Amino acid sequence: MPFDPPTQVTILPIIIVCICAGRLTPVVTEHSHKVYISHDMVLFTDKPIGNGAFGAVFRGEVKGQLCAIKLLHSLASQIRTQIPISSTTDSTERFRKECEFLESFHHPNIVCHVATREHPRTKQLVLALELMDCNLRHYFTPQPDEEPVTLALPVQRSLCRDIASALEYIHSRGVVHRDLCGANILLSCGGEFPIAKVCDFGMSRIIKSDDESVSLQAFAHKGYMPPEATDMESSRYNSTFDIYSFGALMVQIVCHLPTIKDRRERTRELELIPEDHPIKKLILDCLNENRDDRPSAAQLKRRLVYNMD
Ligand SMILES: Nc1ncnc2c1ncn2[C@@H]1O[C@H](COP(=O)(O)OP(=O)(O)OP(=O)(O)O)[C@@H](O)[C@H]1O
Ligand SMILES: [Mg+2]
Repeated sequence: MPFDPPTQVTILPIIIVCICAGRLTPVVTEHSHKVYISHDMVLFTDKPIGNGAFGAVFRGEVKGQLCAIKLLHSLASQIRTQIPISSTTDSTERFRKECEFLESFHHPNIVCHVATREHPRTKQLVLALELMDCNLRHYFTPQPDEEPVTLALPVQRSLCRDIASALEYIHSRGVVHRDLCGANILLSCGGEFPIAKVCDFGMSRIIKSDDESVSLQAFAHKGYMPPEATDMESSRYNSTFDIYSFGALMVQIVCHLPTIKDRRERTRELELIPEDHPIKKLILDCLNENRDDRPSAAQLKRRLVYNMD
């Protein structure tokens, strides 16, 4: 058929209007390393930035804004290899909850939700987040030909305050994170001080009051796990769970460690912190073996803001 410019010109605006109005299912087009998840969300498959136990994270764009795009491993490998892989119901449910939590949170120290979209073919969720520079583990991992990172006390305190603020916010909403660790603290390093933001709410749960506690499920990051997590007798948890993990994170920040070892190594790690370090007492309070004696996130934040130790 001969090319008919007038018809194309007439149809084009109609197609654009239909796509904008959501009438047409967005097509997943794969060319070079770009995959269009929807008409406004694109994933750069050649730019992976992170891998967790159940999620893969890539660079991408939403409405032209550079973002981090998180999706389940099953969908990520399907997009890259074209081979369909099914995801477990458990991981799909975890991811759906994470998207809901992040959409409902608005706090400067929680990674900012940009958009959630459904993959047009598999219907799996794809989550776009503000793009951060690195996580705390990478930040403290020595790089060849670079000086190891050492943080002045005000910077250490500022990072701890950021995380305490995020915890105060989620705990006040009845949410326990349950998976705080170096890989789940993201940093933005462009300003005078790095800014810390909490991410990865896949293990988070709502607990209506601190008296209520919910059965534990074992998970991977051992060094950050409070003693009650491995005690079968008291396999329940509440917000004090996060406070212990936060204590371990503060050790990591003050000692510039890429990760925190098993709890049995804790004494050795604590010996690295001088007795007169201004936040040592705070750290020890968070790492209290008795969870009822740990401070609340609100108390922690106050102590960090007003230098109360
Ligand atoms: N918004 C972001 N900006 C930059 N990097 C990110 C972002 N979100 C995640 N990452 C990187 O991807 C990694 C994995 O992300 P995330 O922890 O959300 O995945 P996960 O599969 O849920 O992890 P886990 O194994 O802890 O369950 C992070 O440790 C971080 O390095
Ligand atoms: Mg993670």
